[in-house]
Amino acid sequence: MLEEQCTLQVPVAPGGAPVFGHLFRFARDRANFLQDIRSAGDIVEMHLGRRSFYVLNAPESIHDVLVVQSRKFSKGMLFDRVRPFMGNGIATSDGPFHLRQRRALQPAFHRKHIAHYSEMFAGIAHQHVSRWTGGHVIEMDREMRKMAISMLVPTLFPSARDSATGQTIEGMGEHISGNLGVLVQGVLRATILPPALAAVPTPGRRRFLNSATALRRLADAAVKQARSDPEGHGVLALMLAHGEGDSGGMSDLEARDELLTFLVAGIETTSTTLSWALHVLARNQDMADRMSEEARTADPADITPAALPYTSRFIQEVLRMHQPLWFMGRRALEEVRLGQYELPRGAEVVYSAATLHRDPVYFPEPMRFDPDRWLRQPEKSLPRSTYIPFGSGSRKCIGDGFAWAELLAALSAITKKWHLHADPDRTVRTVADAQIHPDSLPISLTPRH
Ligand code: HEM
Repeated sequence: MLEEQCTLQVPVAPGGAPVFGHLFRFARDRANFLQDIRSAGDIVEMHLGRRSFYVLNAPESIHDVLVVQSRKFSKGMLFDRVRPFMGNGIATSDGPFHLRQRRALQPAFHRKHIAHYSEMFAGIAHQHVSRWTGGHVIEMDREMRKMAISMLVPTLFPSARDSATGQTIEGMGEHISGNLGVLVQGVLRATILPPALAAVPTPGRRRFLNSATALRRLADAAVKQARSDPEGHGVLALMLAHGEGDSGGMSDLEARDELLTFLVAGIETTSTTLSWALHVLARNQDMADRMSEEARTADPADITPAALPYTSRFIQEVLRMHQPLWFMGRRALEEVRLGQYELPRGAEVVYSAATLHRDPVYFPEPMRFDPDRWLRQPEKSLPRSTYIPFGSGSRKCIGDGFAWAELLAALSAITKKWHLHADPDRTVRTVADAQIHPDSLPISLTPRH
């Protein structure tokens, strides 16, 4: 009791320089820096120039912030920087507005729809892998982005084929794909750099602004088209249901912001996870064979975790070891007590699921990729908020079931048809920008018989 009352000073991460603090180390090698400072304490303060961030290392404090005391936090600085480009959608908004949008969108992601989506994703994945030809190197990271786009876009606006933009889903996919990468890079730059530096009109900054405008135009056109089609289906039609401005429906602007949010939140995350999955499969033929066998013998109409248990454990392990979203944040709206520490109002707190998922205290031999660890140590046996690939609490990923359906469908279709071979002359490097992703992923294919 006495111990609970005492307040400790939050330790500062070692290695800070005068004035700049940890900025250079963070800018140069951020993922390893966050990994290294785990041993400095459950909560550690880091300084990026004049800005302070409290890094939450312990699952208990992460759980406290995301779940127990979540009402005392807003989404914070990272999302302030995203908002001008992505709008005030469900991922960036806070408070009652967020609650309203979440309630309006939740039905589209209900479990009962996932079975229908799964069937559709299996068809799309099959079409996609049937177009590949064996014998030459394919840049699989790009392919996975295309696949993720071709799964998400028709779910958001099924009538996209003859939309007002005049583009087919593939055409829109190319357009989105080209612009999304630039947008995501630009947002990270805007987060790390002080605002004055981030606003310098470099060619990169101009590309970023152009891409943001292009995606906004595309979303505007899709909303306009959906508004003119009262018979329309999909998530966008659901957003607009009941007419503009009345109690149930969203305004065009709100729907546009949500659409952009889904494009940004739902494509890169899934495609990066798929890329890491293929990276592992191309280096572990035994795992690929097991997955292929499972896909071939399973009921093709049942693409669920229960029907594909090995593939599911494999996905769990990819999301543990290669968690794409390495840096998430919140801002304290009032003074908050987290364990033995008191954080001031306005404190920016951050956590990294990527480093937490590699903590040997919770995951023995964390650098060993082992899908069967989930048989020995089921997710439920872990302390709360220790394994959080989709976050936790009221801001947990709304698309988690959707992402699982995409991942299961894609990996089953790929391993059913193809052997994957890593390029022996290339070392795949890890890049940590807005997500942790492979720098490129050259893989060659031979057909399975
Ligand atoms: C493997 C793929 C995915 C991963 C790892 C992932 C991860 C996450 C995480 C960690 C959060 C919580 C962020 C926070 O706490 O601040 C989140 C939120 C969100 N995700 Fe995902 N996500 C994935 C796929 C998707 C997909 C496919 C969609 C859409 C179809 C989606 C839409 C969203 C949205 C809208 C939010 C914000 C929810 C809210 O604040 O209420 N995500 N995601």
